Amino acid sequence: MSLVLDPAAQDLLFREARTANTFTDEPVTDEQVQAIYDLVKYGPTAFNQTPLRITLVRSPEARERLVAHMAEGNRPKTASAPLVAILSADNEFHEELPHLFPAMPQVKDLFFAERPVRENAAALNAALQAAYFIVGVRAAGLAAGPMTGFDFEGVRKEFLDADHTPLMVVNIGRLGPDAWYPRAPRLEFDQVVKTV
Ligand SMILES: Cc1cc2nc3c(=O)[nH]c(=O)nc-3n(C[C@H](O)[C@H](O)[C@H](O)COP(=O)(O)O)c2cc1C
Repeated sequence: MSLVLDPAAQDLLFREARTANTFTDEPVTDEQVQAIYDLVKYGPTAFNQTPLRITLVRSPEARERLVAHMAEGNRPKTASAPLVAILSADNEFHEELPHLFPAMPQVKDLFFAERPVRENAAALNAALQAAYFIVGVRAAGLAAGPMTGFDFEGVRKEFLDADHTPLMVVNIGRLGPDAWYPRAPRLEFDQVVKTV
């Protein structure tokens, strides 16, 4: 009984949540996405830099363009999911830092004046936020299907600002029939954790 989170919520977010490969036709609304974002925006990032950017692919024409950049095996899922989001990292996140980290507005120039440093920081912190986003999708009673099997440069050129790096494409919706493979094993505590 070490966890204080309600067991039903534990199941919803982790134990029973699965990566979805098929979806029902039920739409995912902008209100749902807004509610997800307004929850997960509180997940921590270094210096509160929050470099994650989200592109919702809503129009059939944009969906078609995205599917063309997906790996063969990912195309049917991206074509059929009720909503698809492209998650990316903004390498120019430092411009917002004086606002986002008012306790030390000088960190913008002190630590993030150089682009390679920003790219490393953005990759790590946007990936953290992508994980919060996936859990947030589950908190809305929906399933996420994150994917990195796509042409990154093609997606960047076609959908993103020049300063953004794609992280993953996420299919979102209600689980459909045969939505998942059998649950694969996870590494156990003793295989992962060492105490020094
Ligand atoms: C960052 C990331 C990239 C992934 N890329 C793909 C992908 O390109 N195609 C795919 O079918 N599944 C992809 N997956 C799905 C994983 O294989 C799946 O989440 C994992 O096996 C756990 O499945 P489970 O949640 O059903 O237990 C990806 C997952 C993550 C988190």
